[in-house]
Amino acid sequence: MAQVLSTTPLFPDQAERMAAASHELQTPSGDEPMTRQELLHQLPEAEGLLCLLSDRIDEELLRTGTSLKVVANVAVGYENVDVEVARELGIAVTNTPDVLTEATADQAFALLLAVARRVPEADRAVREGRFPPWRLEQDLLGADVSCKTLGVVGMGRIGAAVARRGRNGFGMRVLYASRSRKGDIERELRAEFVPLDRLLAESDFVSLHVPGTAETRHLIDATALARMKPAAFLINVARGPVVDEAALADALESGVIAGAGLDVFEEEPTVHPKLLELKERVVLAPHLGSATRATRYAMVRLAVDNVLAVLAGQPPLTPVN
Ligand code: NAP
Ligand code: GLV
Repeated sequence: MAQVLSTTPLFPDQAERMAAASHELQTPSGDEPMTRQELLHQLPEAEGLLCLLSDRIDEELLRTGTSLKVVANVAVGYENVDVEVARELGIAVTNTPDVLTEATADQAFALLLAVARRVPEADRAVREGRFPPWRLEQDLLGADVSCKTLGVVGMGRIGAAVARRGRNGFGMRVLYASRSRKGDIERELRAEFVPLDRLLAESDFVSLHVPGTAETRHLIDATALARMKPAAFLINVARGPVVDEAALADALESGVIAGAGLDVFEEEPTVHPKLLELKERVVLAPHLGSATRATRYAMVRLAVDNVLAVLAGQPPLTPVN
């Protein structure tokens, strides 16, 4: 029998799978995730750990977990886990790819449409009794989406799912910049592989889908924003630090670009105060990419599959190290 820690309460049937495999599952007593202190206290006995992207699984924690065999991150991104130290200690690290791809791509498109057609501003106007008179040149005119150019930065699982929505649903021309060329996506969507500078200069919507790494930090900085068209929009459902948030706030304020739809932020849960002040053509969401019940359930199930596999002496299903 092994002890497994989860920093957050699990769906009951997934928690029961641990008991069925004769493992003892420890979860926080209430609804709140385990604190770092609680985690440090409980970790020495644990062989498995299920954690969230808001848990920082660093060297101190990994070295405290002297019995740890597997860290299962309930997220596809895993920059919150020190993968190098885990590798050195022989601890498997796993993530939850694929199961959240469509939900996250939906969120990217929800933000894209919301900011282009000014949905939150329109909602506020109606609720506040400011129903604008119907005129040809009226308040709350938005931007076209159909048949415009979509620039996907990072043509991985989610980038491709967003590109499919753009191409097949909205007849958009798709440009992409990525670490490696994707011939299959080019054939499927008539997508064009271009340097980032050209993507920025030609796209009406730039959608970010690279992971959060040292290499992608501030990939979109003041210089990159200045390359975008003044009528273009930036969508970020990737990671906050991919964008220099202060530079983005300045670019939005001074009209360097037309708007932004953001699901992720540099210092979550803090949001740059200037972004909070910008109430027009900026749509903000609190990191909800995978936030549908079915998707969160699938993520937990995959994380549990990974823990059970490793504790049974089998290879993990979705390893990252
Ligand atoms: P993925 O399939 O690994 O896609 C990432 C893509 O980015 C890959 O095509 C990769 O290139 C490319 N890439 C990596 N480094 C790059 C660089 N320096 N420059 C250009 N391209 C680079 O991952 P995914 O499943 O699509 O997820 C992408 C990211 O979305 C995750 O890492 C996570 O941070 C974020 N995410 C956010 C939410 C949310 O709630 N907002 C939800 C899920 C995911 P290669 O193909 O050559 O490897
Ligand atoms: C969410 O941000 C994830 O990486 O799964």
